[in-house]
Amino acid sequence: MAGEKVHLTREKETLLITVYGKALESRRPDSLLQDRFADEAVRRIDYDFARLKVDDNLAVSLAIRAKALDDWTSAFLAMHPNAIVLHLGCGLDTRVFRIDPPPGVDWFDVDYPKVIELRRKLFPPRDHTHLIASSVTEPGWLDAVPGNRPAMIVAEGLTPYLAADEGPKLFARLVSHLAGGELVCDAYSDLGLKFVRSSPTFRATGAELHWAINDPRELEQAAPGLRLVEETSAYKPEHAARVSWFAGLIFRLWSHIPALRKVGRLLRFQFDDQRALAVASAREKAAAKLSREAGSRKDPIDTICPCASTAILVMPISAWRAIEKRAQNGLKRCASDLPEGAVLRMSRVVRDTDTSSRARAAR
Ligand SMILES: C[S@@+](CC[C@H](N)C(=O)[O-])C[C@H]1O[C@@H](n2cnc3c(N)ncnc32)[C@H](O)[C@@H]1O
Repeated sequence: MAGEKVHLTREKETLLITVYGKALESRRPDSLLQDRFADEAVRRIDYDFARLKVDDNLAVSLAIRAKALDDWTSAFLAMHPNAIVLHLGCGLDTRVFRIDPPPGVDWFDVDYPKVIELRRKLFPPRDHTHLIASSVTEPGWLDAVPGNRPAMIVAEGLTPYLAADEGPKLFARLVSHLAGGELVCDAYSDLGLKFVRSSPTFRATGAELHWAINDPRELEQAAPGLRLVEETSAYKPEHAARVSWFAGLIFRLWSHIPALRKVGRLLRFQFDDQRALAVASAREKAAAKLSREAGSRKDPIDTICPCASTAILVMPISAWRAIEKRAQNGLKRCASDLPEGAVLRMSRVVRDTDTSSRARAAR
């Protein structure tokens, strides 16, 4: 069978480095990633992989990084079997096949149109897997992504290719669109980008690197809601035996020398549903206002909030009737303090002792 001719350049061509590295590592008897799908894809691609000069050290490093991101993703999906996964700058990575998520999960692979076209040719369609052909920095593609389910965002080998002002904006857009979840990615300091730029493998593609992440905490400010919960080196001493003695030495030193640690690391962030938080905070304000309005009363007054978008004020019917009309109207006006879409329900409950009013109090 004739191979699939591939004409990719610059940052798109770098996906051939990663898929080839993963394929090579998977051919090893001690393979960590066991990515037979990458191996099969590489065998079907008509491209001179030798020009990329991917050696064993690089192949193993790429597999270690991918495995760490797979493990984070699998752990998230084990807790949220109805989640969505956004796989940004997916290239030809076969994470969805490696992880094989449960049927309740919807998976979105996002990359440039030329890359998605190639994915379609190389991989069979899969239920609940969606391909989005767009630059991740174009805002429109998110419209196709549900914003009401737990979300796992995976960006592997992507951040350095984004413009330094676009990356944080993308993260902020994701956090405000999605209903909470996690974002995992690899990140490189300025020094890390220098190392990558100097590698012959990278230079063979003509790609350019832009976004260095020197301090991941800065992303918490840039994308409000994002919280860094884990920061780790992909190059742990336990993997030293898989690579050459010199690379193994670097692996061992990596975690002990802070400047080296920042060169390349894996980050895990969490974020909450920002709309639910906004509703909850408005609801709290409304509840405080309600309590102030009815403050002169000594009867119990309470707000119960069975869901993020509803605030229910509960008070004995006797109390409700005892409040003058003006205060009742004031309480009703509190509804306007809730964000659009939220509802304030006034529920007048009856005390056991107030039996005569029970029928009238029914809502
Ligand atoms: C080094 S490859 C990594 C591919 C894959 N994530 C992996 O680890 O095998 C970088 C990928 O990022 C994609 N990419 C870079 N900038 C992008 C953008 N603005 N929008 C979408 N994809 C982008 C490239 O097309 C390429 O597939």
